Amino acid sequence: TSNADLKGKRVLVSAGGTLEPIDPVRYIANRSSGKMGYALANAANARGAQVTLVTTKSDLPVPRGIQVEKVVTAAEMEAVLLKHFPTADITIMAAAVADYRVAQISSQKIKKKNETWELKLLKNPDILKHLGQIKRADQYLVGFAAETDELLKNATDKLLAKNVDLLVANDVSRSDIGFGADENQVLLLRPQKDVKTTPKVTKERLAHKILDEVLSSSK
Ligand code: PMT
Repeated sequence: TSNADLKGKRVLVSAGGTLEPIDPVRYIANRSSGKMGYALANAANARGAQVTLVTTKSDLPVPRGIQVEKVVTAAEMEAVLLKHFPTADITIMAAAVADYRVAQISSQKIKKKNETWELKLLKNPDILKHLGQIKRADQYLVGFAAETDELLKNATDKLLAKNVDLLVANDVSRSDIGFGADENQVLLLRPQKDVKTTPKVTKERLAHKILDEVLSSSK
């Protein structure tokens, strides 16, 4: 699809994995490459939308015309998303947001000492859940679920808990799809609707399928 069926729409996409610093030289990360989120931003841009991409990555190419906001931590990602959310028609949370951050970020490199080291973590805000709570009836919210087991059950729980219009669930225990891969295969869940399973396709193709689903189920 490359018609302009998203012309006049503002699309907000998050991509990549947040980094949670421990000290000036170390951080907690996850395996997100940003590919899924960038594919969604590119697909929406190609279909005529005005796209804002909130990303932790800077190593992937972005076409001119997409507004890019670079962030590092979950807290920064939340602040930037909340700034853009009120004007977004469609918001897609493809980023892998850290559920916890380090309680006390050290301003100096932590010295190697004992055989064990306990790091205290604090729960991060659930950005998607927050957006689900404040979204207006004219806004469409898409969440993802990254699961290693009980894909359908866990995805159904997230669909309900986060009040999203569409939940895209992927099995991240596989190396041929999910984190880092060029392809993905997902379940598409909507409230009170039958679950759809997509074939395994490139993330670019899947991005268009997700946007097709958004458009066909928008009010
Ligand atoms: O980046 P790639 O290498 O291309 O990989 C793609 C992907 C596997 C990262 C992507 O397809 C994906 O699944 N993204 C969501 C990853 C994730 O954090 O899933 P989750 O099940 O932990 O979280 C559920 C949803 O809540 C997600 O939309 C997530 O963005 C959001 N979330 C989670 C935690 C949190 N504190 N705030 C959030 O907003």
